[in-house]
Amino acid sequence: VCVIKGKPITQEEQISFAKTFGPLDSKNGVLQKDIKRRVSEELVDISNMDENSEILNLDDRRRLFNLGNRLWHTDASFKRIAAKYSMLHAREVPPEAGETQVCDLRAAYDDLAKSTKDIIENLVAVHSIFTSRAQLGFENFSQEEQDLLPPIRRRIVRKHPGSGRKTLYLASHIGRIVGMPIPDGRLIIRDLIEHATQDKFVYTHSWDVGDTLIWDNRCTMHRAMPFDEARYRRDMCRATVMETN
Ligand code: OGA
Ligand code: MN
Repeated sequence: VCVIKGKPITQEEQISFAKTFGPLDSKNGVLQKDIKRRVSEELVDISNMDENSEILNLDDRRRLFNLGNRLWHTDASFKRIAAKYSMLHAREVPPEAGETQVCDLRAAYDDLAKSTKDIIENLVAVHSIFTSRAQLGFENFSQEEQDLLPPIRRRIVRKHPGSGRKTLYLASHIGRIVGMPIPDGRLIIRDLIEHATQDKFVYTHSWDVGDTLIWDNRCTMHRAMPFDEARYRRDMCRATVMETN
């Protein structure tokens, strides 16, 4: 995780800075039906605002979809090409709460019992964006939206290509483990996520305007914390560098 404190930048600056690290995951919207964009197609809108900068209604599909960010996840693990670096920039923040938490999945892996490491070494998980949303009871996706993002398989234990260190690769997008009854697979994932998100592995970022938080999706998970959404705007956009190698 890298934090750049209090340096406001424009959308264009955020995009060009991110592109120096590799190609971006643009055309990134999951929701296809009747969605008007507030920000560039090359950024992901993480705000609670509509295209006119008004706070989203309680039952707005965009808001309900974004609530999935409150579950521990890694970005775009459900896509054919997942995310490498996410760069989240704050333009407006609530006066309190609404933090972002990030956990270290290399330290979490190192801390597992040897017997657990042996069990999970070769396991392959199935990731889908519709799994994480279904966990909150949000299942209002069109056939077109579902067809665009079929399930993706990824190993649970991987080597980080930079350091060579072993790391877990987990997300609330995981719905099953290949070759296992669904409840057995889900229990393993639930136990691993519970283990990996203990306080000792977690950094909590309290936002100020102009902060940019950068995390490596290949060895972390993150989640958004709640705030008074009906009252305050939280204007954040994410640039996402794809895991192209
Ligand atoms: C994200 C995300 C968490 C937050 O930008 O990918 O999950 O705190 N954000 O908004
Ligand atoms: Mn995210």
